[in-house]
Amino acid sequence: MAHVDSAERTLEATRRLTRRGSTIAGIGRSIPAKVVTNRDLEGLVETTDEWIRTRTGIRERRVAPDGVATSDMAVEASVEALTDAGLEAADVDLVIVGTASPDMLFPATACLVADRIGARRAGAFDLSAACSSWAYGVAMGHAAIASGGAQTVLVIGSETLSRIVDWTDRSTCVLFGDAAAAVVLRPCPPDEGFLAFHLGADGAGGPWISLPAGGSRLPASAETVAGGDHFIKMNGREVYKFAVRAIPRAIERVAAAAGLAVDDFDLFIPHQANVRIIEAAAERLGQPMDRFFVNVERYGNTSSASVPVALYEAVEQGRIRPGDLVAFVAFGGGLTWGAAALRWTDGSALGRRAGTAL
Ligand code: ACO
Repeated sequence: MAHVDSAERTLEATRRLTRRGSTIAGIGRSIPAKVVTNRDLEGLVETTDEWIRTRTGIRERRVAPDGVATSDMAVEASVEALTDAGLEAADVDLVIVGTASPDMLFPATACLVADRIGARRAGAFDLSAACSSWAYGVAMGHAAIASGGAQTVLVIGSETLSRIVDWTDRSTCVLFGDAAAAVVLRPCPPDEGFLAFHLGADGAGGPWISLPAGGSRLPASAETVAGGDHFIKMNGREVYKFAVRAIPRAIERVAAAAGLAVDDFDLFIPHQANVRIIEAAAERLGQPMDRFFVNVERYGNTSSASVPVALYEAVEQGRIRPGDLVAFVAFGGGLTWGAAALRWTDGSALGRRAGTAL
């Protein structure tokens, strides 16, 4: 009968593990000091502050100084997130960096970050889902914790898009900015923290936003450099149409997966690409705009950093209290989309300070 006892013990252990949830225990960010306003861009390309504001809602964006790469901002955000969680780098089991602008094709930026912060025990990898990378990374971090494979996961979204933007192309250079943010995920009871995820992809729309050269399809050459093929190319209208459909659909699906109604969410934190996209999505969902956190006017589209930077500011401003239901939703190149439903817990010291200040 010994094997039966052992099988039952294994089953019970599996039940315990699958009952484990994960939550955000700390948050940090890194925002470059240099501000580039729409007026500054008027001197670079044929555009106007009025065109950029009315079409996108963006007023300014940040640009990292020369020599600062994606890993540098990721390190700063990670150190703040670990301090916020009251943890050490040695506690980290897994480092996931979501990015479309890694330091190099390899090694992974996550390995460089793990080394720099001293996360010696941690596995580390980059996750490539364009602007959805952080949302995908959080889903992967949650799965690692829920399965019992990890206790502490650092999920970072970090971008130096200014390095891969063509500053002579007005249709893209006005849209993007640099930033990073990181969260620390830790175990929690399954009815708190992350309640559900919804991830999706449609590779048929891949050509609508891409960086064509530098991979195995179009290796770097004098011709690719001369042709500007190492810069972001985008069909803005197609991405726009996709985004206004993808956001409401992803929110509805994640709400259903969590057993919630869309109305149950206290705050939606969407990818910050264009305020018109967010407004159109809010209208389709029948939700008021004051339930959507928006900061695109100050940062532009920071790709994988956009949702966690917005989350940081929402927490800092006391917009999220313990017990609140929050929906994250991202979309981007791939095409990809990802949403998460979260019941906010009071792990983050930043959140606790904002709560007591009110
Ligand atoms: N300044 C002035 N005029 C401009 C500029 C500019 N910066 N950029 C484009 N224009 C012109 C165009 O050339 C066009 O002129 P035309 O009519 O003579 O051809 C005109 O403005 C209108 O262009 P549209 O593309 O129709 O403008 P639209 O209202 O669609 O706005 C925008 C463009 C802002 C890019 C919008 O389509 C959008 O936000 N799309 C989604 C982009 C997005 O979210 N991308 C990120 C995806 S996430 C990721 O993975 C990185």
